[in-house]
Amino acid sequence: MDIFLAISVLIFFFFLFSISKRLLQKRKNLPPSPPSLPILGHLHLLKKPLHRSLTNLSNRFGPILSLRFGSRPVLIISSSSLAEECFSKNDIIFADRPRLSAGKHFGYNYTAIGWAPYGPHWRNLRRIATIEILSSNRIQMFSAVRIQEVRSLMKDLFRDSELGISVVELKSRFSELTFNVMMGMIAGKRYYGENVVNLEEAKRFHEITSESSTLIGSPNFRDFVPVLGWMDFEGVEKRMVRVVRRRDELMQTLIDERRRRKKKVDFSPSMGVEVEVEKKEKTFIDVLLSLQETEPEYYTDQIIKGLMSALLTAGTETSALTTEWAMSLQLNHPDVLEKAKAELDMHVGPRLLEESDLAKLPYLHCIINETLRLYPVAPLLLPHESSEESILGGFDVPRGTMLLVNVWAIHRDPKLWVDPTDFKPERFQGPEGAKEGLKSIPFGRGRRVCPGASLAMRMVGLTLGTLIQCFEWERVGEEKMNMTEGAGLTMPRAQPMKAVYKPRHTMLNMLSQL
Ligand code: HEM
Ligand SMILES: *[C@@H]1O[C@H](CO)[C@@H](O)[C@H](O)[C@H]1NC(C)=O
Ligand SMILES: *[C@@H]1O[C@H](CO)[C@@H](O)[C@H](O)[C@H]1NC(C)=O
Ligand SMILES: *[C@@H]1O[C@H](CO)[C@@H](O)[C@H](O)[C@H]1NC(C)=O
Ligand SMILES: *[C@@H]1O[C@H](CO)[C@@H](O)[C@H](O)[C@H]1NC(C)=O
Repeated sequence: MDIFLAISVLIFFFFLFSISKRLLQKRKNLPPSPPSLPILGHLHLLKKPLHRSLTNLSNRFGPILSLRFGSRPVLIISSSSLAEECFSKNDIIFADRPRLSAGKHFGYNYTAIGWAPYGPHWRNLRRIATIEILSSNRIQMFSAVRIQEVRSLMKDLFRDSELGISVVELKSRFSELTFNVMMGMIAGKRYYGENVVNLEEAKRFHEITSESSTLIGSPNFRDFVPVLGWMDFEGVEKRMVRVVRRRDELMQTLIDERRRRKKKVDFSPSMGVEVEVEKKEKTFIDVLLSLQETEPEYYTDQIIKGLMSALLTAGTETSALTTEWAMSLQLNHPDVLEKAKAELDMHVGPRLLEESDLAKLPYLHCIINETLRLYPVAPLLLPHESSEESILGGFDVPRGTMLLVNVWAIHRDPKLWVDPTDFKPERFQGPEGAKEGLKSIPFGRGRRVCPGASLAMRMVGLTLGTLIQCFEWERVGEEKMNMTEGAGLTMPRAQPMKAVYKPRHTMLNMLSQL
């Protein structure tokens, strides 16, 4: 009898609960949502590449969409004015990040900068990243690393051409270049090309990097359907744990090396000169180790490894792929290439491009900006999450909603851009490129905006400029390059780019001296 009573009371409350929940939801004005399936939500509507699939949905249902990825509520924004609402008055609310399994493993339990929830810890990391590590002063100190790497690429290309080679696959060259640049700044080491100290270590890094981006890039079913939490279908979770352990060991080796070196420099009185050198070229690890000395409980090795990994993951492929997209766009538009070349010849002349010249090359900047408009390598930015209820475009957005801003769609919105799919760098010179509103936001906006944007612009600018300055570039064959984008974390080309090249006559002297 007692049990019956208890069960009836339970059932009664259950009904009351579900009815009141329904009533409450009725009153909430949620954004439009296509029909969904139980358990899967809208997962069945999503195809690769995700940004195209979401653009298709937005074209049908509107620029603000509420979806469910399994059990996770997701908001899709694909208009410039809504993006502005997210990143201005609601910026703090959307500055949080969802807890996805990649962040647990690759982000050291959500303590690393790209993954950390909004709060005092993230704010501190962000301060360190922008003031101590990616400040224009610090970046300036490392311009020699970037110049050296770019020249080394020119030297390799020139040597190959002397041997009669005339076709080059640029994607892997760019990846190696940006990886060397980032590692040079982080740890003072080089992993590809000549003077590589530890080939074994370089190989391990290479494996770990490619495995990591595969794993971070492929969505983990368990993030969205936690009912299946006890299953690890594709062994994704296990692979993550394994690759993160290997990465962690490597990062630790790098830290230990710099720590030993720092001790030597700190304590030897006879090294007056070297102390100066050290101070001038303090690597990122050195900077973080100094912070560790003053505040050892906070700046643990784990925090340092988290920052190093975040910079490496966020900075390498993004810049390399942007350079690749820019080169392939120019090969399809030889007139743009000619104009860039003329600008370089006029303002830099017969010597090799330096970073300080970049300010004199507005057209080159337009090319990069137009490339980032058509092929933003983070087409959906990184996922955000709302930490409170808010109102967007007149709709209610509950707290705990994952936000994806479809930058790819905004950048191709015919209401904002004339002939949106055409590659026309000139539009950034005219009124169309004017910066009012959030028409072009390849680096995001607001509190979570990419802290490496100016470093990226320099790396890409210097590489592109020097390539155009030193060589003549052409497509392989008559046909235009296939500009289809592939699936992946950082929107790659479906087909890695190949080009025909030969040294420019005017630069032969310069190139043979490299
Ligand atoms: C063309 C190159 C690059 C592009 C297009 C790019 C784009 C982005 C985007 C869209 C975000 C997410 C913004 C958001 O959450 O709304 C981001 C975050 C980030 N980027 Fe970049 N990025 C580039 C290069 C770099 C470089 C060179 C570095 C540093 C070395 C870097 C470091 C970071 C970091 C640390 C974050 C996480 C920020 C946070 O969560 O607080 N990025 N980037
Ligand atoms: C988007 O829609 C176009 C045309 O309707 C279709 O051809 C394409 O396959 C769709 N793409 C995705 C990723 O759903
Ligand atoms: C991760 O952080 C949570 C709290 O935020 C803690 O309960 C958990 O033990 C941590 N896990 C690891 C592996 O450090
Ligand atoms: C190109 O984009 C960068 C970064 O978003 C911006 O600072 C710059 O003003 C833009 N340049 C032009 C010519 O539009
Ligand atoms: C371009 O490449 C994509 C992906 O590799 C392929 O599906 C498509 O058919 C190609 N288009 C042309 C015109 O060759």
